[in-house]
Amino acid sequence: MSIAAQERLVRPARNILGSLCLPGDKSISHRYAMLSAFAEGVSRFTNFSTGADCASTLACMAALGAKVNRTGPDSVEITGVAGRVTPAKHPLDCGNSGSTMRMISGLLAPQQGRFTLIGDASLSRRPMERIRKPLEAMGARLTLTEGHAPLTIDGGPLIAIDYTTPVPSAQVKSCILLAGLQTAGTTTIREAVRTRDHSELALRAFGASVTRTADSVSIGGPQPLHAIDAAVPGDLSSAAFFLCAAVLFPGSNLVLDAIGLNPTRASLLDVLTALGARISVLNLEEKHAELVGTVQISAPAEGMGSTEIGGALAAQLIDELPVLAAIAPYTSGGIRIRGARELRVKESDRIALAAKNLRAMGAEVEEFEDGLDVPGGQTLHGATIDSGGDHRIAMAFSVAALRAEGETLIQGAESASISFPEFFDLLDRVAER
Ligand code: S3P
Repeated sequence: MSIAAQERLVRPARNILGSLCLPGDKSISHRYAMLSAFAEGVSRFTNFSTGADCASTLACMAALGAKVNRTGPDSVEITGVAGRVTPAKHPLDCGNSGSTMRMISGLLAPQQGRFTLIGDASLSRRPMERIRKPLEAMGARLTLTEGHAPLTIDGGPLIAIDYTTPVPSAQVKSCILLAGLQTAGTTTIREAVRTRDHSELALRAFGASVTRTADSVSIGGPQPLHAIDAAVPGDLSSAAFFLCAAVLFPGSNLVLDAIGLNPTRASLLDVLTALGARISVLNLEEKHAELVGTVQISAPAEGMGSTEIGGALAAQLIDELPVLAAIAPYTSGGIRIRGARELRVKESDRIALAAKNLRAMGAEVEEFEDGLDVPGGQTLHGATIDSGGDHRIAMAFSVAALRAEGETLIQGAESASISFPEFFDLLDRVAER
């Protein structure tokens, strides 16, 4: 079989064994890049995300006047603009990255000038109304293209607001926080589900004061930010592919070093434990208020059980749901996912693509508007996988392929580099064949 550059053949494995260090967390890298570029002084980061998404953020911040110096493949030195960006001559290209577009919009809305943000075909289909509403409530002017990018911001001084987010979204929360940081008065965001709190922790690390209650976060403005040095924790959402691969093989033993274990991100460990995985966490420490630790995992000798995911858990696990759906046929009792409608507006419609690709591998699956029912006890066969150019779909089905009968061809495999360029090499390193 001839394989195109964008394709990858994944062969079944016999076991998952070894230890890995994973590249830096994508969410934290975006925030450190934006905040350091906005701060006063020179920040230095190691284990910075190697993904294309964070490179988009760095390029946007450089276009806005920050000095970005790549000091190594995963290290970067950023000299900030001390609170005042330069309007870019060209549109800011956010690539495939929703985090870049939504968070930078909040950073730019209070700045003087006109800013245009563009993205690739996938990003240009994703909903941006969710940031227009709160930013306009603060007095900003945002022009969208039928609810999507390209978007133009006519920036200027804003007013503080008290805003309840209609859909749980850390990106929207962060967008408002970054605008609130530069706005006189106290801006409050209320959320029904506590989404990842990397922005709150990062803002504090850069010297800002952020207060929090059980269901709200507030920031007073304007506040200056000061440069930091930091090592970015390993990305738990990238680790998810390896953790899920490890639970497929009784006798597996995998160690992942220095992984970010922020409690608003770490629900996957509870879900895998509920499925029967044996997990231990060692060397737990705090770095700039982010928890980091070594995760050791082995599969249950008796195989995985079953689980249901819904409500707040679905929101907190949103990036891990594709890989959980992909391993669900190999559980004994299946996995039921609900309350995950947001999956339909990610880099692709992840519910539709998960169902399509599970079926391509011979699995039975029922699709719902807000989730999937994947029965357990199924045998899958190798197939051609349509990743839809979505990095998490490409990687999720590479994991499903490890226990299928026969080889699996992943189309659009290069999309893994959006968050995790090293994925296929590291998978080959720990997969015993
Ligand atoms: C992210 C938040 C989530 C997540 C995305 C990264 C972040 O998106 O899916 O991959 O870094 O804040 P939403 O905030 O839109 O749910």
